[in-house]
Amino acid sequence: MRGAGRSAGARGVKCPPAAATTAAAAMALLHSRRLLAAPRLAAAASRASSWWSHVEMGPPDPILGVTEAYKRDTNSKKMNLGVGAYRDDNGKPYVLNCVRKAEAMIASKKMDKEYLPIGGLADFTRASAELALGENSEAFKSGRYVTVQGISGTGSLRIGANFLQRFFKASRDVYLPKPSWGNHTPIFRDAGMQLQAYRYYDPKTCSLDFSGAMDDISKIPEKSIILLHACAHNPTGVDPRQEQWKELAATVKKRNLLVYFDMAYQGFASGDINRDAWAVRYFIEQGINIVLSQSFAKNMGLYGERAGAFTVICSDPDEAKRVESQLKILIRPMYSNPPVNGARIASMILNTPDLRKEWLTEVKGMADRIISMRTQLVSNLKKEGSSHNWQHITDQIGMFCFTGLKPEQVERLIKEFSVYMTKDGRISVAGVTSGNVGYLAHAIHQVTK
Ligand SMILES: Cc1ncc(COP(=O)(O)O)c(C=O)c1O
Repeated sequence: MRGAGRSAGARGVKCPPAAATTAAAAMALLHSRRLLAAPRLAAAASRASSWWSHVEMGPPDPILGVTEAYKRDTNSKKMNLGVGAYRDDNGKPYVLNCVRKAEAMIASKKMDKEYLPIGGLADFTRASAELALGENSEAFKSGRYVTVQGISGTGSLRIGANFLQRFFKASRDVYLPKPSWGNHTPIFRDAGMQLQAYRYYDPKTCSLDFSGAMDDISKIPEKSIILLHACAHNPTGVDPRQEQWKELAATVKKRNLLVYFDMAYQGFASGDINRDAWAVRYFIEQGINIVLSQSFAKNMGLYGERAGAFTVICSDPDEAKRVESQLKILIRPMYSNPPVNGARIASMILNTPDLRKEWLTEVKGMADRIISMRTQLVSNLKKEGSSHNWQHITDQIGMFCFTGLKPEQVERLIKEFSVYMTKDGRISVAGVTSGNVGYLAHAIHQVTK
């Protein structure tokens, strides 16, 4: 290849000899032009038949697309209630004080930037497991679990999905609540699993369809996989009560289902990390060996740091060791080893008593501000004169509220009031502030009266 290219290039730039006969000169000229043209033609041909000409334009991401439209809007009253990221009462991104302090402590230690082990930072994975399972958990204390660091919640879910694809031989079917977080479907599908659904939400009451869920779950074929949101269900904000979780656990056990808990909001729902982990801990106490994904994006505000974890509860420590070895084999060709910075921050917070205490106060502060915005939204809707029953806004929990607004009402909110949200009527309550809650209530009343 190298030789051919060089000789063609050398011949191509050669000029015809000045003293040649006209015929010979014409032939030579023609020959040299052909040679000159050849590389140009080849370039044009390669441009015309690209490897990627068949690639069609994909649709924008339904959530991040909302932010793009919001950014283009010039209305000074515009609100972005699409993306699930916490904002302070001035509508600004919020970096927790405990995070700032942990960062300063890490900086002062002048740590190196070496690779982490494949499974991540050990202090972080141990503390993540303890946070989810509880320090008194038998599974935690006996070591019959394995936790690996993942790239936030999404990456941890993907490790789990790939692990199931490789090792869960009983079924390919993953049952998701209807509706579920939009990314669950492609995460499991791209890992080679098949998606199924169980009833979860009743649009008529904007609350949990518990009998529908129980009915569907009791019919799921044995040894299938069921995904449960541990708390602060996204997008509905609707969680089962403790007695309902107990019934769910009993049914899941009877059907012998593999439970995959997604816990992206521990502490963010009620403000109490233990209360939010109640279902996860209860299921394990019932002898249900779950798998679990965790994210520190929301509860520590570490969105872009991508700190998360994937845990498998095993029957004994020996099984956990074997599972760990296979998780490493699975992770190594994906991204080799996880990013260090976010895990160091989370680990510093979880493992330093003063910082941990401050974190718990700050998580509660964020959860409380969201709860108060829910109350203020409902009272402002009443002040506007709305006669609808908005109780679901305060009944629902966590970052999101499934308002029950119809697509055409959402469209009007965007077009007439520059209030942006996803088409399904989900709003991120974390984006509402005491400065704009009145405007939001006014806008919602105008499109629903
Ligand atoms: C239910 C649920 N799971 C997982 C995630 C993952 O988030 P991240 O990858 O940012 O940690 C989210 C984020 O919105 C979520 O809502």
